[in-house]
Amino acid sequence: MVKIGILGGTGPAGSGLAARLCAGGQKVYVGSRDPLKAETTVRGLVERWGARMAHIESASNADVAETAEIVVLGTTARATVATASPPRRVRSPRPSRRPPPGRWWRRPSITSRPPP
Ligand SMILES: NC(=O)c1ccc[n+]([C@@H]2O[C@H](COP(=O)([O-])OP(=O)(O)OC[C@H]3O[C@@H](n4cnc5c(N)ncnc54)[C@H](OP(=O)(O)O)[C@@H]3O)[C@@H](O)[C@H]2O)c1
Repeated sequence: MVKIGILGGTGPAGSGLAARLCAGGQKVYVGSRDPLKAETTVRGLVERWGARMAHIESASNADVAETAEIVVLGTTARATVATASPPRRVRSPRPSRRPPPGRWWRRPSITSRPPP
């Protein structure tokens, strides 16, 4: 049994493919940006197709992409690139080059130096 994930599998195309692949004996993960929407889609397929949907699950797109061996994009064409791209990291601010304030890093003033 191959694990097949469908990102954005909540539309007519993705859910139809999911149902056919699952009925054909594959393990299918229906993904969505909203895991609750994926769950609702899967529940609908199980209610409609019964025991033939024995190996279908729902999850977020990110979790589906992690779990599946084969990933299919079921989104609209415009959304494919963004959906297939890794999530953008939030950049942390650059650490300051200035040392933290405190006595230890202050240069001694000329007047506090001992005479040569
Ligand atoms: N429907 C058909 O009969 C049919 C036939 C042949 C080919 N196709 C092709 O198959 C593809 C999907 O068709 P469809 O009718 O199933 O499309 P759809 O219902 O309009 O969209 C499918 C899924 O794409 C996700 N999506 C939409 N906008 C998105 C965005 N901006 N970012 C990320 N995800 C987004 C949504 O999933 P979530 O909201 O759950 O994330 C949505 O449920 C299209 O390219 C279409 O041309 C469709």
